[in-house]
Amino acid sequence: MTSTHAFWLAGRQATGEAGFDVTSPWDGSHVGTVSLPTDAQVEEAVAAAYAVRDEFAATPAHTRAAALDHVSRRLVERTEEIARLISAENGKPIKWARGEVGRAVSVFRFAAEEARRFNGGEAQRLDTDAGGQGRLALTRRFPKGVVLGIAPFNFPLNLCAHKIAPAIAAGAPMILKPAPATPLSGLVLGELLAETDLPAGSWSILPVSNDKMPALVQDERLPVISFTGSETVGYAIMDSVPRKHCTLELGGNGAAVVLGDWASDEDLDRAAQRIATFSNYQGGQSCISVQRVIADAAVHDRLLPRIVAAVEAQVTGDPNDDATDVGPLVSEAAAQRVESWVDEAVAAGATLHTGGKRDGASYAPTVLTDLPADTTLAREEVFGPVLSVQKVNGEAEAFAAVNDSRYGLQAGVFTHDLQAAFRAHRALEVGGVVIGDVPSYRADQMPYGGAKQSGVGREGVKYAMDDYTYERVLVLTGLAL
Ligand code: SIN
Repeated sequence: MTSTHAFWLAGRQATGEAGFDVTSPWDGSHVGTVSLPTDAQVEEAVAAAYAVRDEFAATPAHTRAAALDHVSRRLVERTEEIARLISAENGKPIKWARGEVGRAVSVFRFAAEEARRFNGGEAQRLDTDAGGQGRLALTRRFPKGVVLGIAPFNFPLNLCAHKIAPAIAAGAPMILKPAPATPLSGLVLGELLAETDLPAGSWSILPVSNDKMPALVQDERLPVISFTGSETVGYAIMDSVPRKHCTLELGGNGAAVVLGDWASDEDLDRAAQRIATFSNYQGGQSCISVQRVIADAAVHDRLLPRIVAAVEAQVTGDPNDDATDVGPLVSEAAAQRVESWVDEAVAAGATLHTGGKRDGASYAPTVLTDLPADTTLAREEVFGPVLSVQKVNGEAEAFAAVNDSRYGLQAGVFTHDLQAAFRAHRALEVGGVVIGDVPSYRADQMPYGGAKQSGVGREGVKYAMDDYTYERVLVLTGLAL
C-alpha cells in the first residue's frame, strides 16, 4: 500500500498537485500518498455536478438502485482488503474495521431500497372547500441541488457512505471530501462507483485540503452541506452560510445510565461488558462512545469493580491483530490531548481506577470517579478511551445528570422497566435513547443526529434523503374526484 492514489473527478480518476502522505497511527508506516486536486480541478468537479443536476434528478430509480446495489455487493467482495486499509490509515483494530465495512454494505443496500421506494408521491384532495372543487394536490420530493459532503476520520468508510449513498438514492449530485488523515477508504468508494452507469459529474470524491474548504463552502452551486466532525468546525460552516441547508453531525459525551432495577449479577456483568467495550471501541473515537456512566446508588458499588475489570480486560495493541480491542488514536497529538485532560481531572481531585497512561498515539483504557464538574473532561467530548462513573440517587437525578451537558446525541438506559423507558424517552434531551444497552448502538437505517450542540438534521439513509430534497406540490384542476 505505497502507491500514489488518484482522486475522483466527475466520476473519473485524476491526479493533481503533488500529494500528501497518509501514515499509520500505529507504527508511523507509510500507507499511501494521495494526490491533491488543483483549484481548476475542484472547479471542474463543481461545474460538472451543477450541470448534471437536472439529468441526475430525472434518472430512473432502477438505474440509481442498481448502482447502489452494485457498490454494496462489491464492498462484500472486497471486505478484507478494505478493512485492512481502514485499519492501516485510521489505526482501527481489524475486527472493528471489518464491522465498519459490513455497515457500509448495509448503507448502500438500504439506499438501493430507498431509491426504489422514495418519492412515490402523496395525493391530497382539495375539494374540502368550495374553492378547491375538482382539485387534487400531488406532493413529490426533488433534490435541493448539489450536496457538499464532508466526512470525518473516525469511520472513514461508513461515514463517507452515509453522505454519498443517500445522495445517489435521491438523485442529488455530490462532491464528497474525505478527512485528510484518512482519505483512502473514501477514495475506494470511487473505484466501486466508477464501475456503475451513474452519469458523469454526478459524483466526485476530492481530498480538498482544509484551507481550501471555506471557498467551496461558499460556492452557491452547492446549496446543501452535510458535515460530520467537530462542533467548532460544524458551527463555523453553518455561521458562514446561514442561507444554505446544513446538516451537522457533531460531538457528544454519551451517557450510559444504569437504573436500580438493573441489579442481578447477570445484569451488571452485561452492563459492565457493554460499557467497557463501547467506551473503548475505535479508541473512544466515536461521537456515541460511552464517556459517562451514571449509576443508581442501589447498584453503583457492585457495578464499578465490574466496569474496572472489564476495561482492564480490553486487549490493547496492534490493530492488525485479530485479538486487539483497542488500538491507537488517530495521532499522537490526539493522545496527548486526552492525556492532558485526564491529568487535569486527576489534579482537580478525580480518582483514577485504571489507565491514565500514554504510549505514543496509544492511550490506555481509563476509568475515573469523583470527576469534578468544572473539569474539561466533565464538560467536553473526550474522543478517547476514557470514562467516568458517577453515583446518583434515583431516576430523576440520573436523567438530570444526563441532561447536564451541552451535548445531546444519544443516551443508553439499562432498565427492565417499560414505564422507565418511556419516561427516559420523554426526559432525555438527546437524538436517540437506547434501552437495555449503551448509547453507542446505531443501526444505519435509524434516524441519527443530535439535540442541543450535537448538531442539526438527521442521517440514516431515508432521513438524509429527506434532508437533501424538498417537497414540491403539484395542484391538478378540473378533475372528476
Ligand atoms: C459518529 O461518530 O458520529 C458515528 C457513530 C456511528 O456511526 O456508529
